[in-house]
Amino acid sequence: MSSNDLIVSLDIGTSKIRVIIGEISNGAINIIGVGSADSEGIRKGAIVDIDLTVQSIRNAVDHAERMVGITIDEVYVGIAGNHIALQSNHGVVAVSNEDREIGEDDIERVLTASRVVALPPEREIIGLLPKQFFVDGLGDIQDPRGMIGVRLEVECTIITGTKAAVHNLMRCVEKAGLRISGIVLMSLASGMMALSKDEKQMGTVLADIGAGSTTLAVFEGGSLAAVSTLPIGGDYVTSDICYGLKTQTEHAEKIKLKYGCARVEDAAEDLKFKVMRVGTNVEKEFSQVDLANIIEPRMQEIFQMIRQEIKRLGYHDKINGYVLTGGTVSMPSVLPLAQIELESSVRIAVPDYIGVRDPSFSSGVGMIQWVTKYVRSRVAGASKKPAKTKAAAGASSSGKSGFVEWFKNMFKEFI
Ligand SMILES: Nc1ncnc2c1ncn2[C@@H]1O[C@H](COP(=O)(O)OP(=O)(O)OP(=O)(O)O)[C@@H](O)[C@H]1O
Ligand SMILES: [Mg+2]
Repeated sequence: MSSNDLIVSLDIGTSKIRVIIGEISNGAINIIGVGSADSEGIRKGAIVDIDLTVQSIRNAVDHAERMVGITIDEVYVGIAGNHIALQSNHGVVAVSNEDREIGEDDIERVLTASRVVALPPEREIIGLLPKQFFVDGLGDIQDPRGMIGVRLEVECTIITGTKAAVHNLMRCVEKAGLRISGIVLMSLASGMMALSKDEKQMGTVLADIGAGSTTLAVFEGGSLAAVSTLPIGGDYVTSDICYGLKTQTEHAEKIKLKYGCARVEDAAEDLKFKVMRVGTNVEKEFSQVDLANIIEPRMQEIFQMIRQEIKRLGYHDKINGYVLTGGTVSMPSVLPLAQIELESSVRIAVPDYIGVRDPSFSSGVGMIQWVTKYVRSRVAGASKKPAKTKAAAGASSSGKSGFVEWFKNMFKEFI
């Protein structure tokens, strides 16, 4: 890797599109730029209007470009949503070298073999996670290179998504004038950023509570075991405030951000604010306690739904705790409320980099870390160039071939 590689991540969320530019200098990541724009065209985490989404992506990218003084050509795109599914598979090959020493080519062949799976016509593979390799039946091997054997097997998790959702996502990014260096499952990226090795081993749920959706990722036995997306998030809280205080969405959102508190017992009665009500031009005064009375039941419901979903997935008794991230968990008192509702150990994860210390940046920052660790270390990097000279901030390949290249690197990644 060159000394100042740039990696750009794109998180297309329901409330905001976020672009994060990471500079990799001697293996260390510096976040040198962030661009965000209000998201139009996304509902509950899914693209519902291509043109509006394209424009929002453009706005976020322009913002980041202005901040850093570069032109962004290529991005790593985050993917999430209820269309994502995981399935286990197995691959087997005979070791090809005459001396029976396992090489990179054997690993690539076994990973390719493990991708052979019957999928419904509307689904496609978007990623592959090797869990363990077996050499002549001996398992628990993370890196079989250099070992001697006849038979190489891999047990892996295949990540699939619907072709329509993947296509729409890629189409929007390309229409915004960007090349796609790779697609990254945001749950994996945030998991890498937010969870320790032990947490992933012992069973932990990462819950990303955004605006329109809550993405759950269960990590167990060191790897991603299950994913699920619930169509709930901070927008519900805002909507309750709208009805409760009889005000417009825009005002409700501002009030939530400024005075919101997730627990009535932690709210201040003497913290008062005025609200312009719909259909009148008179303002009415409310206290933070009034607001918390609206917010608390909805936040309780969100945590109950998370709990039920984990039960439905069959992991209720297998997990040791929850790690929360996503914009909604920034609200004061979310943590104690979650600890009560989830009846488990809970903590909030925030990226530890200047300029992005906010749980809503977890996915975007996680993607930069993911790419740096797994994908980029094998690809020749691009370096920072002045504005207007089209710096390729991403892998050097493009379009379809970029995608194939990325898959190849994904294979190498876990090794
Ligand atoms: N300080 C805060 N207090 C309360 N809510 C907050 C705060 N900061 C952000 N939020 C809420 O977090 C939500 C945005 O979170 P985030 O940016 O993670 O969502 P998103 O990625 O745009 O959406 P999604 O992941 O659902 O597609 C909004 O509902 C916003 O109101
Ligand atoms: Mg999000």
